[in-house]
Amino acid sequence: MHRVLVVDDDKVLQDSLKQALEYHHFFVNVANNGKEALNAVFRDKYDLVVMDVNMPEMDGMEALQEIKKYDPSIIVLILTAYSNVGDAVKAVKDGAYNYLEKPITSDNLIALIKRALRARSLVETSAFSAPTLSLGDKNDDKFVGKSDVMQKVFNVISKLAQVNTPVLIRGESGTGKELVAKAIHYNGPKKDGKFVIINCAAIPENLIESELFGHEKGAFTGASERKLGKFQYANGGTIFLDEIGDISPAMQVKLLRVLQEKTFTPVGSNRDVTVDVRIIAASNKPFEEMIKEKTFREDLFYRLNVLPVYLPPLRKRVSDLPHLIDYYIKYFNSLHGLEIKEISPEAMSCIAKHNWPGNIRELRNVIEHCFIIESEEIISVTSLPETLWRPPAGSDENPTISQEQEEGGGVINFQDIQDSVLDEKSEDEQSELDNYKFTFATKTDDNKIKMNFQHAKDMFEKEFIRHALRLNGGKINQTALKANIPKKTLLRKIEKYEINPKDFH
Ligand SMILES: Nc1ncnc2c1ncn2[C@@H]1O[C@H](COP(=O)(O)OP(=O)(O)OP(=O)(O)O)[C@@H](O)[C@H]1O
Ligand SMILES: [Mg+2]
Repeated sequence: MHRVLVVDDDKVLQDSLKQALEYHHFFVNVANNGKEALNAVFRDKYDLVVMDVNMPEMDGMEALQEIKKYDPSIIVLILTAYSNVGDAVKAVKDGAYNYLEKPITSDNLIALIKRALRARSLVETSAFSAPTLSLGDKNDDKFVGKSDVMQKVFNVISKLAQVNTPVLIRGESGTGKELVAKAIHYNGPKKDGKFVIINCAAIPENLIESELFGHEKGAFTGASERKLGKFQYANGGTIFLDEIGDISPAMQVKLLRVLQEKTFTPVGSNRDVTVDVRIIAASNKPFEEMIKEKTFREDLFYRLNVLPVYLPPLRKRVSDLPHLIDYYIKYFNSLHGLEIKEISPEAMSCIAKHNWPGNIRELRNVIEHCFIIESEEIISVTSLPETLWRPPAGSDENPTISQEQEEGGGVINFQDIQDSVLDEKSEDEQSELDNYKFTFATKTDDNKIKMNFQHAKDMFEKEFIRHALRLNGGKINQTALKANIPKKTLLRKIEKYEINPKDFH
């Protein structure tokens, strides 16, 4: 049962609203002013607040700000006897779902409340702790976003889902444009229809028209059968025109017609076909420049861009990182049957510093990479791909690894290794080492070389690893980190040289 708080200093209105809402199976409480409303919201959980503006103690506009600060998921409807445009704009900017003028019939108000609650249920908090947008029952993927900017995108999506206008989604590669399209489709009235994806950049120029609109038998060489196009296939559902910025001027004209008239002509046909299809398009192309250069039609752009959605790159919404990581840890745990619990603060710091040119797709790949490499419960720096913690060659930026070495001590250098090589040796090893040192010392005298190069390297490597493990109490992650060896390599070498890390605990 949804919980509603009615806030008004007019007792008669309070009562009548309470009764009407209870009749529609809402749980209702009342408050006489903004202050009481705030206390009620702090005390109990509410889904929605219906609030007057002019009230003693604290007015509705101030209470709205406080409620939204406390819990942005509470829906607030502002009802006022003295509406003015300035207040309405401010209320909506401050997060009100709507700003309505009294009197309003209870039927209208209830319809609005139900619509608002339905829209919010799309922006749900799932079993995962990250706030996510449902992509419908048919999708395992979730759309995660807690940052203000993503919360705004989610709100726009839930509103867009209810209408049938074209949508243009813009944003860098990997920012989630396809997820937005799915979220709009699967949360809207056409969700039982098909969601058909067309990648306009991937289809050769000479095939795209027939791909989209179909063709008649014999329409061109190779058209041995009549074929339905994707628009007909998507009838009653949604067509997602991905990479729409890549279509040719000729196709742009044809698409414009579909957008305007919902009608097209299959290749080689003289019959028009009319369809009921929602059009969602996506691209990261600079349309404004393309329009100036006349490579993209302005009229098509404006037709598509009625309701634009812009997805910012991940580097501009770093507050989403922990939620996305949390989501992917749970996701890959259940996919791979593992029990990785979290990510170490050092690894998190590398992730936060990275620029994420590939956006969420890149992040997802990085976390999956960690699942393959990591053998412990916490994702450590060394299970991240090296590009995240090793600075590019020639850069003087300190890598995270060396910062940690400085903080934690235990930096390994060649002298340490040479010293350690001198103790804890079996007799065989010691004699080999003697040869090695001797050879090393007399390297100009070829006759004295008794150990081959590979063997010498292995000896050194083995000692290096033993010494690094000793300095780090046999801890794998720490050793990999401090000795600057990728963890995968370290584990391989430990196995190769039959070293038991427990010997160094
Ligand atoms: N907010 C998000 N929450 C969870 N997963 C996300 C989110 N955004 C993107 N992803 C995931 O990142 C990957 C890339 O997303 P998507 O394919 O929607 O990006 P795109 O913008 O269409 O990229 P491109 O331009 O390269 O086609 C997908 O695996 C998707 O599930
Ligand atoms: Mg895409």
